Amino acid sequence: MKTKDRIYEMLKASGEEFVSGEKMAETLQVTRAGIWKAIRALEKDGIGIEAVTNKGYRIKAFDNGTDPELIEELLKKKGLEVKVFYYDETDSTNLRAKELGSEYPGNLLVIAGKQTMGRGRKGRHFFSPGRTGIYMSFLLRNGESVKELSTLTANAAVATATAIDKEAFGGKDTVKIKWVNDLYLESRKVTGILAEGFADIEGNGEFYVVTGIGINLYEPAGGFPEDIKDKAGSVEGCGGKLSSDSRNRIIADTVANIVYYHDTPAESLKIYKDKSNLIGSRVLINTFSSSGEKETALVTGIDDECHLLVRYDDGRTEALSSGEVSVVKC
Ligand code: BTN
Repeated sequence: MKTKDRIYEMLKASGEEFVSGEKMAETLQVTRAGIWKAIRALEKDGIGIEAVTNKGYRIKAFDNGTDPELIEELLKKKGLEVKVFYYDETDSTNLRAKELGSEYPGNLLVIAGKQTMGRGRKGRHFFSPGRTGIYMSFLLRNGESVKELSTLTANAAVATATAIDKEAFGGKDTVKIKWVNDLYLESRKVTGILAEGFADIEGNGEFYVVTGIGINLYEPAGGFPEDIKDKAGSVEGCGGKLSSDSRNRIIADTVANIVYYHDTPAESLKIYKDKSNLIGSRVLINTFSSSGEKETALVTGIDDECHLLVRYDDGRTEALSSGEVSVVKC
C-alpha cells in the first residue's frame, strides 16, 4: 500500500480527531517530508485535508466512504429491495447499470468512487473526481415508457434535492431546481442528472430507464476545472453540513425518494414547482435547433408536465419540453 493510502486509512480511522504529522511519521516509518508529500498527493486526488498547527491533520469533512452493505440495509429498512454494485473507479455508472440491467432482474443501484468518462447531457463530460462526489445510477424495474422520461428526471431532481436538504440543511428547503433537472445552491450547480433509456436487445427486449445522478459533495482540492469553475459548486462549499455517513444516507434517501415520488406524482410536482428557481427570470433559450438560434424570454411558470412556460418579447407564449436556458441579467 502506498504511503498516501496508508495515511488516508489513518485519517479515516481517526475521524474528526486530528492526527499529528509526528505520529504519522512514527507509525508509518516515513520522514516528515514524506508525510507532507503524501498529504499533497491526497489533496491532488481530491481529498480535502485540514491542517492545523500544533494539532496535525484530519479529513476536512470526515466521510466514511461508500458502504454498499449499509446502503442496502438502509433501503431494506425502508421496505426496498435494491441490489447495490460498487466500483472504486469506472467509466460511467450509467453504462455499468445498462450492462447489469440485462444480467440482473431486480432493482439495482450502481455507485462509483470515481468516473473516468462521466456522461453529462448533450454528450458533455461530467467531472467526476475521486472521493469528493457521489456518482450513482439507479434502475427501477417498473416498465417506464420513453414518454415518461421527463417526469422521471423531474422526480429524480425532487428526490435528490429533498435528500440533500434533509442531510445537509436539517430538512430546510435550501436546494433549488433549475429546469430541467440541475440542482443549485447559491447560484452554483451542485448536481446533474442524466436519465437514459436502454432496450435489452440481446435479452428479452425489455426497455428500462437508468437514472444517473452526480452530486458534488465537497470542493475538489485543485478546484473545479476551468470550463466549469464559475458555475459549479459543492454541497459543503455552499454551506451544507456533512458528517461521516452523509454520503451513504444521501444515496439511500435519494433512491427511496425516487420510489416514493414515483408513486406520489402530485406531491413530487408540487415540490418541483416550489423549488424551481427560474420563475420570474429572463432567460436565453437554447433549443439546440439546427439554425443555432437562441431567443430570450420571461419565465412565467412550470406546467403539470414539468414544461417551462415562457413569454417572448413579442407576446408569444410557449411550453418548453426540452432545451437549456441560462438566466440573463436585465
Ligand atoms: C449533466 O449535468 O449534464 C448530467 C450529469 C449526470 C452525471 C451522472 S454521474 C452518475 C451517472 N453516470 C454518468 O456517466 N452520468 C451520470
